[in-house]
Amino acid sequence: MFHFCQDRAGDTRAVRSPRGHRIRTGKARMIAKADNMTQRSDVLIIGSGAAGLSLALILAERLRVTVIAKGALREGNTLYAQGGISAVFDSNDSVTSHVEDTLRAGAGLCHREVVEHVASQGRASIEWLASLGVPFTLGEGGFHLTREGGHSHRRVIHAEDATGRAVELTLEEKVRRHPGIMLHEFHVAVDLITGDGEERCIGAYVYDRSGRRVETFLAPVTVLATGGSGKVYLYTSNPDVATGDGIAMAWRAGCRIANMEFFQFHPTCLFHPQAKSFLISEALRGEGAVLRLPDGERFMPRFHEQAELAPRDIVARAIDHEMKRLGIDCVYLDITHRPPEFIRDHFPTIFQRCLEFGFDLTREPIPVVPAAHYQCGGVVTDLTGATSLAGLYAIGEVACTGLHGANRMASNSLLECLVFARGCATDILRRSAELEQPGNPPPWDESRVTDSDEEVVVAHDWDELRRMMWDYVGIVRSDSRLERALRRVEVLSQEVDDYYARFRLTQDLIELRNLVVVAELIIRSAMRRKESRGLHYNVDHPEPDPAWEGVDTVLWRGEAH
Ligand code: FAD
Ligand code: SIN
Repeated sequence: MFHFCQDRAGDTRAVRSPRGHRIRTGKARMIAKADNMTQRSDVLIIGSGAAGLSLALILAERLRVTVIAKGALREGNTLYAQGGISAVFDSNDSVTSHVEDTLRAGAGLCHREVVEHVASQGRASIEWLASLGVPFTLGEGGFHLTREGGHSHRRVIHAEDATGRAVELTLEEKVRRHPGIMLHEFHVAVDLITGDGEERCIGAYVYDRSGRRVETFLAPVTVLATGGSGKVYLYTSNPDVATGDGIAMAWRAGCRIANMEFFQFHPTCLFHPQAKSFLISEALRGEGAVLRLPDGERFMPRFHEQAELAPRDIVARAIDHEMKRLGIDCVYLDITHRPPEFIRDHFPTIFQRCLEFGFDLTREPIPVVPAAHYQCGGVVTDLTGATSLAGLYAIGEVACTGLHGANRMASNSLLECLVFARGCATDILRRSAELEQPGNPPPWDESRVTDSDEEVVVAHDWDELRRMMWDYVGIVRSDSRLERALRRVEVLSQEVDDYYARFRLTQDLIELRNLVVVAELIIRSAMRRKESRGLHYNVDHPEPDPAWEGVDTVLWRGEAH
């Protein structure tokens, strides 16, 4: 169970429209004329990664489903996932062991019932994907199993070193051919619409990037599957779409948001100015790669008995510590002791990408640094993905289900997407007889805004926010850094709100507005937790505090829903 402790970060800017609908869209945009830019379906899914597309496929057997994606359908964290999906297939392994490893990595904050629920469905989830045609790598007698940090067994099913790509492209192909699924690519959800007496979510206002206008998407059920928010940090393994839109929309709609202080930094991204933090999968360490300092010293055994396969928070912090201690720009990942053909066969994508940047994995250690990777917190849900707002579900990385606790174990995220997509579908289908189309909310009106003559403000604030988060709210935090960060984010928030109220929407503006919300939620959550646990490390409170064991940090805007 979540233990709620209320916080009021930010005020409520609810606006009453002429028709009595209440919308929460930050600063008011006046509501006026009716138009024909309204789309209706039974279920609106915002996001087209592993979570959104899996859900769409299951639901579309019985319901009319709309999927919107802010870019191309396939673009999102799922496409870039490398290592794989955790599930118990080894005869020496067990669901109990998977549960225990997940709980250990989660450092006292995982919800055991959720962990058991997810781990017990690993096998069925993989079999479902395989039945759709995902080309998982095979080994002797079945799927090849690789290993990653925190796992006590070989338990990671993968498609070479590009598992996410194999999953996403397979789902995309199925979804595109399904007559019951309407797809709207390059459509960016701006805000959720709450209506029908305010008790429910009835859809979303959505910005059509090509038409440069806002449309209304209505449905009795809306599902956030918008992924993570890595772009809130200067260096991230995430693609550009990962701007935390779902969290910010849910926050503005009054949902509960939990555990935002637990942002996972992946220990090993390629250090190269043009590489854009290209991920070097943990599976390399699973297959024997070691971390070295510039003088060749292997340093991880000094930090943890599992050395390079310790949970991610420990490895990332150890690298950060060594980089600061020695004043170096990176450390090195070395797998040269494995045969070249083994490296090329197991890691063809990574091998090729490194080669493009001038590094030959088979012959030399490669330079690596940590980068922001995974948001463990998110919109609070139950086991079906239902949020605290009726009519709204959240699944995948946008959600905080209780699975990951204070630190996600590698390869548990794609599994969570699949398990919660199925649970969410089951719940929606169970209620399908009750689904009623909502009434018409006020359409979006841009009549009071103008084109910006100061786009530079948006670009500047993006950069400032991401650098500030990296410097003050990164792998190692302190009370004074967090206070400094809060002061900065409050100024940025005010500036972005004013800008949003005055100027026409652009994708950059929508995303910046959301990133500011996400940043503030991370900072406020981190300030609240006066201890160090899992991914949250504060030098002023360096130890876990038993009083915080099992206590989630839950924030909401303070309105009753
Ligand atoms: P995503 O796949 O990120 O999809 C989000 C979707 O939401 C996109 O379609 C996007 O367009 C859409 N969207 C966002 N905002 C809006 C908006 N405002 N309007 C409309 N659409 C919107 N996990 C593992 O378990 N195993 C791994 O091996 C692994 N490797 C990883 C490697 C990398 C480089 C990265 C970045 C992550 C990795 N992860 C891994 C984590 C995992 O990939 C993600 O947590 C998971 O894919 C998230 O899936 P999702 O469906 O929730 O979101
Ligand atoms: C990786 O391949 O290292 C990423 C795995 C994950 O984030 O789960």
